Amino acid sequence: MEKIVLPEIENFHQIDVYVEQGGYKAAKKAFEQSSDDIIDQVKKSGLRGRGGAAFSAGLKWSFMPKTTDKPKYLCVNGDESEPGSFKDRQIFEDNPHQLIEGTLITCYAIGAKVAYVYIRGEYHKWIKLMQKAINDAYEKGFVGEGMKETFGTNFYCDIYIHKGAGAYICGEESSLMNSLEGKRGYPRIKPPFPAQNGLWGNPTTINNIETITNIPKIIENGWEWFAAIGEPKHPGTILFGVSGHVNKPGIYELPSGTLLTDIIYNYAGGVPGNKKILCVIPGGSSMPPLRGDQIEGVKMDAESLKEVGSAIGTAGIMVMDEDTDLVKVLARITQFYHHESCGLCTPCREGTGWMEKVLNRILNDEGSYGDLDLLISIANNIEGNTICALGEAAAWPVRYMITRFRDYFEERVKKEVMITVKNKVHSMRQTAFPLDDITD
Ligand SMILES: Cc1cc2nc3c(=O)[nH]c(=O)nc-3n(C[C@H](O)[C@H](O)[C@H](O)COP(=O)(O)O)c2cc1C
Ligand code: SF4
Repeated sequence: MEKIVLPEIENFHQIDVYVEQGGYKAAKKAFEQSSDDIIDQVKKSGLRGRGGAAFSAGLKWSFMPKTTDKPKYLCVNGDESEPGSFKDRQIFEDNPHQLIEGTLITCYAIGAKVAYVYIRGEYHKWIKLMQKAINDAYEKGFVGEGMKETFGTNFYCDIYIHKGAGAYICGEESSLMNSLEGKRGYPRIKPPFPAQNGLWGNPTTINNIETITNIPKIIENGWEWFAAIGEPKHPGTILFGVSGHVNKPGIYELPSGTLLTDIIYNYAGGVPGNKKILCVIPGGSSMPPLRGDQIEGVKMDAESLKEVGSAIGTAGIMVMDEDTDLVKVLARITQFYHHESCGLCTPCREGTGWMEKVLNRILNDEGSYGDLDLLISIANNIEGNTICALGEAAAWPVRYMITRFRDYFEERVKKEVMITVKNKVHSMRQTAFPLDDITD
């Protein structure tokens, strides 16, 4: 199967090799067509965003206003801070010029003259590699004013890297824009959406690194070619980042709709010691986890995962074998979201902390039966009541892990009985007592 995003070509990250292999020809082809034609082709290709929400890339581009005096911007999102997600950095390393070429084509399609590639600040290595690729592209006239001569067009654009300060929330598109503007990385209330009111109040499109890297191949080979790969409703290849209890963790570029079991057992080499799988999170730590006995026949694409009560997210597949302590896993995941909550809205700021506290109580064998329902209740009160989707990212693992592994979690808490007792304020009321405390 042809690899679209990470082709196996030696030294493909070098500009000369990239050009030798036909690189930057798709940009020329794109510049010879109208921007509307390019948007139309990307729409028809069915390309959906690879940053988490799987939204149609072409449709998003079409939201950019056609007639405006305001400058337009493209933000290319390489913050990649979700636990279990590590695919975008591979593009910086192995295929930066296809990302640059995709950025040029996207800028042309949406009418932007400036693109910012936002990279998490700690990713020094990938920032350095990407900066070198951008410098080389400028030098050869593939980026900046030199484009006019190279491509024989009036259009040109500039690309800048913006280093984040290392916050998960800055991957959220509106926080990313605030961060780029030099402000604190707080999410913005939507609407207005970035296409109307983005960077410095101007029309802006935000796309993930992998999404943009697909673009040159769609233009080169045609939307029909792309639309025919994998699952029709979520076509193309996907970079599956497999981690956890597998023999060969890593990134596997495969057609969408590849079976989850195929990825785990054939590509990632199965589970060490042939142990059974207890749990799989299919799309990065914020997506609903699946039980080991639920994964047979599950296809890895947005629609198929929705059918089994999960989501594709960033396609970071986290595999946990039968000896995994799921309470520890959930407590650790929740600690992450508590730590990364920006604190702007109360349900997320307080709820993530409460969930962490209760989970640690269970971890220390001090949890009670009622704690499980308490956790679900906190998660339900976060979901849908926050400014940005970090709320859901924190709530989903808790809600789905506990409901899907109820027996497992019940084993870890003290049993309780409900007894009607006298209460000064409410007269009689149902109160929970730990079963261990009942002696006769
Ligand atoms: C808390 C949070 C963190 C996010 N982090 C990232 C990220 O690191 N990279 C990314 O591409 N999208 C991230 N997203 C999704 C972005 O908001 C946005 O939807 C995405 O960049 C759009 O690109 P796409 O349409 O190409 O997928 C995050 C969303 C949330 C709520
Ligand atoms: S949901 Fe959490 S991270 Fe998002 S704005 Fe509210 S407090 Fe901040």
